Amino acid sequence: MGYNIAIDGPAGAGKSTIAKKVAKEKGFIYVDTGAMYRAMALYFLKLGIAPEDSNSIAKACTGAEIKIAYEDGMQQVYLNGQNVTDRLREEMVGNMASKSSAVAEVREHLLSLQRELARTEDVVMDGRDIGTRILPDADVKIYLTASVETRAKRRYRELLEKGEDCDYEKVAQDIEQRDYQDMNRQVSPLCQAEDAVFIDSSDMTIEEVVEAIKALCR
Ligand code: DC
Repeated sequence: MGYNIAIDGPAGAGKSTIAKKVAKEKGFIYVDTGAMYRAMALYFLKLGIAPEDSNSIAKACTGAEIKIAYEDGMQQVYLNGQNVTDRLREEMVGNMASKSSAVAEVREHLLSLQRELARTEDVVMDGRDIGTRILPDADVKIYLTASVETRAKRRYRELLEKGEDCDYEKVAQDIEQRDYQDMNRQVSPLCQAEDAVFIDSSDMTIEEVVEAIKALCR
């Protein structure tokens, strides 16, 4: 069994930035489970399935083979043999992922891949149900969050920096809607594991959060 650090929390809490840094400093592998859900979402989009069509999503799952590889320390996601990493951050893919990740068959499809990585490697794994369901025996569990306002401001700045035209109110609304979907779905809803350490990063720097997590590790 590898040494496992599980980081869960809502969209925009800074999980991936923090998890990547902790992984680098500890010499661990960073596992971005959101990217796996996004790759599944891309597959459903390619098949022309509507985000609301849970039955077709459930049936289509077995046709998607997701593999993870590390190139120069960066996680690469392969969908049926093709590297799709560059497409995963598209808005359409994120919107589909937030719907399709609520389908039980999609979650089952990714469960063994996630557990196997944690069994064989020292990992920092981020997601929504890592501490509660995927790795209930993780060595360190973190629930990382920040206020909706902080998360919306971060996301808004990120989009502006990318040169995308966006509206702050809309960004904040999207975040609230995604929180609602992730926290209220039937299967593996986002919630804090009983033994997770709660960190609110609203008034913390990235370095402060990284140090707080490292202090909890062996
Ligand atoms: O973290 P992210 O934005 O890349 O995740 C994309 C979607 O996948 C998001 O709506 C939540 C979902 N997800 C999930 O349900 N469980 C995970 N372990 C990771 C992500």
